[in-house]
Amino acid sequence: MTHRVERVMIDRTQIQEMVDRLAAEINRDYEGQEIVVVGILKGSFIFMADLVRKLTVQTTIDFMSVSSYYGGTKTSGIVKIVKDLDVNINGKNVLIVEDIVDSGLTLLNLKDLLRTKDPASLRVCVAFDKPDRRKTEISADYVGMSIPDEFIVGYGLDYSGRYRNLPDVCILDPDGGKK
Ligand code: IMP
Ligand code: MG
Repeated sequence: MTHRVERVMIDRTQIQEMVDRLAAEINRDYEGQEIVVVGILKGSFIFMADLVRKLTVQTTIDFMSVSSYYGGTKTSGIVKIVKDLDVNINGKNVLIVEDIVDSGLTLLNLKDLLRTKDPASLRVCVAFDKPDRRKTEISADYVGMSIPDEFIVGYGLDYSGRYRNLPDVCILDPDGGKK
């Protein structure tokens, strides 16, 4: 099946306004403190780059890469660490940066995992949120935009590895424009 971009859902101007607002909240909340910003690869890479350039609090950067397996049940999942942190987060203020929360299982498991490393604080910043799809109670501390239950690509988000480089957030046409 081929796909092509059907329409823009969130354009680059709206994205920049969203990033400005999130950064202002983070700068206010962590004023006078230092944070370790942990980007979850690969989806967060563009959002992370935009966000950290707007931060005025003392910031260090690290990345993790995880893959999720949901096994037999819908409410449990495990994250396998593909790339672990390089820095020690013990006693640090950690801010996880994710592209999107869907079921919430990745984030739930990731938070449990990072909590075992005893950070001073642990919060989550996501660009996009699909609250209708949630299978756990989890919510992010900083949410860029809540969106309806549609599959989006661009601004770091992919379909089968493609479309991450699109500057706007787009919806794919599943018929590949054949109709
Ligand atoms: P969750 O564990 O179900 O919350 O899955 C979150 C992950 O699923 C995200 O980090 C994305 O990699 C992927 N994902 C969820 N929804 C979308 C989407 O609409 N477009 C692209 N990737 C998505
Ligand atoms: Mg992802």
